[in-house]
Amino acid sequence: MTDAAHPLERARSAAPSMIDRLGEAEVGVVLGSGWAAAADDIGAVRAEMPFEEIPGCVTPTVAGHRNVVRAVDVNGTSAWIFGGRSHLYEGHGPHEVVHTVRAAVLAGCRTIILTNAAGGLDPDIPPGTPVLLSDQLNLTGTTPLIGSDPPPGFPGRFCDLTELYSKRLRDAAAHHDASLTDGVYAGLVGGAFETPAEIRMLGAMGANLVGMSTVLEAIAAKHLGAEVAGVSLVTNLAAGLTGSLSHLEVLEVAAASTDRMLALIDALLRAA
Ligand code: HPA
Repeated sequence: MTDAAHPLERARSAAPSMIDRLGEAEVGVVLGSGWAAAADDIGAVRAEMPFEEIPGCVTPTVAGHRNVVRAVDVNGTSAWIFGGRSHLYEGHGPHEVVHTVRAAVLAGCRTIILTNAAGGLDPDIPPGTPVLLSDQLNLTGTTPLIGSDPPPGFPGRFCDLTELYSKRLRDAAAHHDASLTDGVYAGLVGGAFETPAEIRMLGAMGANLVGMSTVLEAIAAKHLGAEVAGVSLVTNLAAGLTGSLSHLEVLEVAAASTDRMLALIDALLRAA
């Protein structure tokens, strides 16, 4: 496969080596900042594959991510757990950012669970709270569907996002933990946290959560026909609602919330 191949073909060509190394899986889970620590306790590990050995994969550089995929079994469900992801703000394009999610779906994952750390716009939702994504605002200015038409054998150019995040999976998670709330996630390019004015704008647009990931992966997975779930861990109140923000604080809050995150991933895996 040459570099001139369509990004969807590049993702499809990564799938066989992942299956060889990891065995097949029904579910792909992407762990955002701080979620990797929770994942150490998910299921029995069958195999591992470093990101750098996934054909076409760019290796994430952000602290709090682990650049390895683990194949695990959780209560009879087989899953590939991606210990990190790459982001637009690292200088990657939309196709690179969604490459591993596409490869997972094209390798047979029917369900994709996307997790992230997010700023919360609702002062009543304290840091440390996981929130299910009910919808998103893709404010990155780009999309994984940019570029030439999908080649034959892939879904077509336009994709219905009316129910991007599965209501069925949200209901299943809420059944497991009735205190869970849901919200709309605004995904920005990032690189810096937002300004207070930007947070006021996002609130007026209907966002409850803000972060620098997830939105492109959700679109890419949905386009390929996967059922998608998203979960944000609120690690801080968004800019202007609190003191100053730092990535260290994001990681510290996440580390303190491991048990709740683990239980929620487990519930989503059971429902997947
Ligand atoms: N903004 C954007 N991304 C984030 C935040 C935030 O406040 N917290 C964690 N990730």
